[in-house]
Amino acid sequence: MSTAPSLTALQVMQDAPVIPVIVLNDVAHAVPMARALVAGGIRMLEVTLRTPQALECMRAITQEVPEAVVGAGTVRSAADAQAAALAGARFAVSPGYTRTVGQACRDVGLALLPGVATGSEIMQAQEDGFTELKFFPAMQAGGVAMLKAWSGPFFDVRFCPTGGVTPENASTLLALPNVVCVGGSWLVPPDALALGDWGRVTALAQAAVGLRNTA
Ligand code: 3PG
Repeated sequence: MSTAPSLTALQVMQDAPVIPVIVLNDVAHAVPMARALVAGGIRMLEVTLRTPQALECMRAITQEVPEAVVGAGTVRSAADAQAAALAGARFAVSPGYTRTVGQACRDVGLALLPGVATGSEIMQAQEDGFTELKFFPAMQAGGVAMLKAWSGPFFDVRFCPTGGVTPENASTLLALPNVVCVGGSWLVPPDALALGDWGRVTALAQAAVGLRNTA
């Protein structure tokens, strides 16, 4: 396990307009899916810790797709952070924020995008040194209006809205000055995984990369 901070949250957010939120139930899907996203221009891959196969999928991508940068999503505990780092993850995304998770990610060298949905949570994360945050669940919790409201008091915070983000609303979010990127599950549809339709995943990634220019 490396504790070298080899990546920052801002670097994770700036690499592409969209961080794909990935749910994998089959280890056999991991490597071709990662190659398909990389072929489309998306390198930062958030593999969620929601399935028993997630850690093995991270290990497979780390070993076989060196162009990809694997992150762990749904990190909710110190144990999650430790397991993700051992599996090769270089960044972590959490649905909420606790000091325990923040410290655990620092301890194992994972860049963390902590999830927040309220002013108090932003203040707690800032107090602990995190200024690049995931707004989750973004569209359910206020979307564009909330981000505009936060831009006043939290002028020094940058967000990755995730939750309810679609190709249709992503450009509006990306145009906000306090939004660096968005997160979303639409780049890796379950039926594309089931069918092995990697060309579709690449096409979705390419379209996502183009979102920055259409904002
Ligand atoms: C999640 O945690 O599932 C993400 O927020 C993805 O949400 P989405 O399916 O609305 O993109």
